[in-house]
Amino acid sequence: MDGNGRWAKKRLMPRISGHKKGLESVRTVITQCQKLNIPFLTLFAFSTENWLRPTQEVNFLMSLFQESIKKESSALIKHNVRFKLIGDRKPFPKKLVDKIKELEKLTEKNTGLTLSVAINYGGRWDIVNAVNRHQKETLSKKPLTQKNLIQNLSLNYAPDPDLLIRTGGEKRISNFLIWQFSYSELYFTETLWPDFNERALMTALFEFQKRERRYGKTSEQL
Ligand code: IPE
Ligand code: MG
Repeated sequence: MDGNGRWAKKRLMPRISGHKKGLESVRTVITQCQKLNIPFLTLFAFSTENWLRPTQEVNFLMSLFQESIKKESSALIKHNVRFKLIGDRKPFPKKLVDKIKELEKLTEKNTGLTLSVAINYGGRWDIVNAVNRHQKETLSKKPLTQKNLIQNLSLNYAPDPDLLIRTGGEKRISNFLIWQFSYSELYFTETLWPDFNERALMTALFEFQKRERRYGKTSEQL
């Protein structure tokens, strides 16, 4: 979800207004995915590198997450959404960690959309974390296989993503799901995240439908 700051700047507004507006796009996309029966949606909200931003902006984002989790909880429960947070929780305030755990617990049996929000997430962190977990589990006695690496990644409950949508014009992965994106279709759009609406999502999905996914095979073999 990229482009909140630029969206605000264009309107001579502070960056945080862009983040607030971006939250509306989050709601729209969640609702739309539910309508379309998309089973998994993973949102990159805050990277391990985003701590380098001005303190004021970091603080604002942290309180926005906390507030949104609190405010949106009942709607998520009501709409049968399974909520998950991926990322390193260590630096989060205890209150936030408790709220996250509570919401995950309350929604763990839900059978609708699985919504994963990545906060303080980095693909490299995730892989190293998975390797360490494997070593701890096996007392460093077993060589790592792809299967047990995957079992120890944060998204071990989800299939690899079919589609990555990056808004805001940048054409890079920026340390998101670097393992899982191996065979994902990549879609980049100039649209800034706060402007990403129902129509923009449909455009991305139609583009995805046109892609031929060969996974190394030839077109004729499919
Ligand atoms: C939102 O967009 C991404 C977050 C880290 C919350 P940005 O804040 O990166 O917006 P731009 O790139 O400055 O426009
Ligand atoms: Mg950005």
